[in-house]
Amino acid sequence: MSHPFDAPTIIRTKRDGGALSDAAIDWVIDAYTHGRVADAQMSALLMAIFIRGMTRSEITRWTAAMVASGERMDFTDLRRDGKPLALVDKHSTGGVGDKITIPLVPVVMACGGAVPQAAGRGLGHTGGTLDKLESIPGFTPELPKAQIRQQLCDIGAAIFAAGELAPADRKIYALRDVTGTTESLPLIASSVMSKKIAEGTASLVLDCKVGSGAFLDTEEECRELAHTLADLGTEAGLVTRVLLTDMSTPLGRTVGNAIEVAESLEVLAGGGPSDVVELTLALAAEMLDAAGIDGVDPAQTMRDGTAMDRFRKLVAAQGGDLGALSPDTLPIGAYTETVTAPRGGTMENIDAMAVGLAVWRLGAGRSVPGERVQSGAGLRIHRRPGEPVAPGEPLFTLYTETPERFEAAMAELDGGWRVGDHAPPVRPLIIDRITNGG
Ligand code: URA
Repeated sequence: MSHPFDAPTIIRTKRDGGALSDAAIDWVIDAYTHGRVADAQMSALLMAIFIRGMTRSEITRWTAAMVASGERMDFTDLRRDGKPLALVDKHSTGGVGDKITIPLVPVVMACGGAVPQAAGRGLGHTGGTLDKLESIPGFTPELPKAQIRQQLCDIGAAIFAAGELAPADRKIYALRDVTGTTESLPLIASSVMSKKIAEGTASLVLDCKVGSGAFLDTEEECRELAHTLADLGTEAGLVTRVLLTDMSTPLGRTVGNAIEVAESLEVLAGGGPSDVVELTLALAAEMLDAAGIDGVDPAQTMRDGTAMDRFRKLVAAQGGDLGALSPDTLPIGAYTETVTAPRGGTMENIDAMAVGLAVWRLGAGRSVPGERVQSGAGLRIHRRPGEPVAPGEPLFTLYTETPERFEAAMAELDGGWRVGDHAPPVRPLIIDRITNGG
């Protein structure tokens, strides 16, 4: 039977500013998932969406079509000590140095939550949780469904590649990463929510980034994204909370793959940069509240070692080598370059976008689909905004496995930081909180 749609007509409709019908959206997502629409055609459609945007009802339908492109998991039958699991997850809209999932999931496990986390790879200038965790030798995010279920019951979490969940997103995400179409509200909202709806969580906390390192430029657009995410979650029956958080400067003192895991270990050991700890605890509090867990103190789990213990259990369950799990043994790049201070004063600004692009140039992200990323690529920030700087001291150390990348990385970083005489204005890390009443 012939179908009533074709890709060129759908592309032209969006290119010319029209709205796509529900049936056209269902068709194009299904046809692309099954290889009947080519990458070149989907790339053109994504660029048209990027430029023209989508109505709220198009976003809702596009998200539902991506969920329908694959399986939907259901963990409501699982029991722990005879009780249903307190299923809760978190997702970020993408940031620089955003390693928060790595300390956060074990904290929530230690507090009694069960986290079925379908995580992503790096996108554009932002890092991805899976790329970071894969820097732990042996760690695999490719988990069969039975293992995800078992881990949720036995240890309270699994962090996995979405696999057969929302496969349309897997393909579109990889295409966006290399076609300049990441920074689009409808494409971000549908990408995040399709995975989260399909993964089977009951409640969800979203960390919606605002600032130079976020995908969307203005706070107004980020607020609109936050409300769109909250509404998509509510409509899908999830208790959904959104925090709007600052991403004008990188989180913590490290950006990259293995180097961010190393910093996460410091946080789990009760130390680490104060902004990473603050955001981890704020998101943990939201997750516990959304999941209906009370009477536990997430900070205590970092002080008493229970969060670290849960992280080690998670890594071991997913094949990771616990012997390699220390800041000294993780594979941080062998080649280094250092940027030193041209003068004394105060670090006035470090731009998240410049740092994200520099680390991408060092090899932490992809420029063609499926490219292997470097575990060792990364950057250490020695002086954060507001900290005093002495002339000639190291400000940044860059790491890579391929030293010919330094020149391009240095060029990205150039102009992305400033040492001066003034303390920068204090920006709150948590800018706002949006709930759907759940
Ligand atoms: N995270 C996702 O899963 N998708 C995006 O588009 C951005 C962040």
